[in-house]
Amino acid sequence: MKLVLVNGSPHGDRGGTARIAGWLLEAAAEAGAQAETFPLSELRVDFCRGCGSCMNSGLCPREDDVPRVHEAWETADLVVLASPVHVFHVTGAMKTFIDRTAALFHRPPLEGRYGAVVTSSAGMGESRVIEYLSLCLEALGAGYVGAVWGTYRPPGRLWEPEAVRERARRLGRELVAAAREKRDYALRDEVISKRRFLRELIRQNRKIFRADHRYWEEHGWYDHLPGTRRPRR
Ligand SMILES: Cc1cc2nc3c(=O)[nH]c(=O)nc-3n(C[C@H](O)[C@H](O)[C@H](O)COP(=O)(O)O)c2cc1C
Repeated sequence: MKLVLVNGSPHGDRGGTARIAGWLLEAAAEAGAQAETFPLSELRVDFCRGCGSCMNSGLCPREDDVPRVHEAWETADLVVLASPVHVFHVTGAMKTFIDRTAALFHRPPLEGRYGAVVTSSAGMGESRVIEYLSLCLEALGAGYVGAVWGTYRPPGRLWEPEAVRERARRLGRELVAAAREKRDYALRDEVISKRRFLRELIRQNRKIFRADHRYWEEHGWYDHLPGTRRPRR
């Protein structure tokens, strides 16, 4: 089972967010997952120019490291998005990466996979990061399993580290269990509405959204919208 972690912290693998993510990965590895990590601080991630090529031709003209992450997702069972809070939200690096992923929100590549969120802060704004990154995971098709966060009180001391470690490890185990048991997670209404909206947008503008239209036809999504079935419970 493969887990892909994308971390938007400027401190990469040595930061406070990575420390918490590390506990999640450790427990996931004990449960049988192999992790591949992508610290965005070590990758080249250029800004989206808004040209629309990704939705029209299916290709982004920017030549950087973003396709490497998207390729890793193709064979991933589990995807973790991690970012510290920067001024009430995700870091610029994480937002830039997500903007560059825009076309995949039209052609959700994580159907049948499972995702989780990791964040850290000095005590303000984690809920917005969790809300945003979990929304992204669901809109990309993943079942959202949960989030873990920690508060670093300056200078870099994690508040209640044992409790955070335990929560991170539990989430790592839950992620693997979700994939093993093929659990169903309900999509939030916002994601279901977005898919209905996309169906009409792409259908009515198929000359503009050529790559999206082709993908939706090939996958039969005009007739059956993915992810809109109700979960078994
Ligand atoms: C530019 C910047 C903005 C920040 N904004 C916030 C904030 O809005 N709320 C908060 O609680 N912490 C904020 N922090 C603190 C970081 O979220 C916190 O130190 C985090 O644990 C850093 O994680 P990292 O080591 O993985 O980068 C900010 C830090 C920086 C550098």
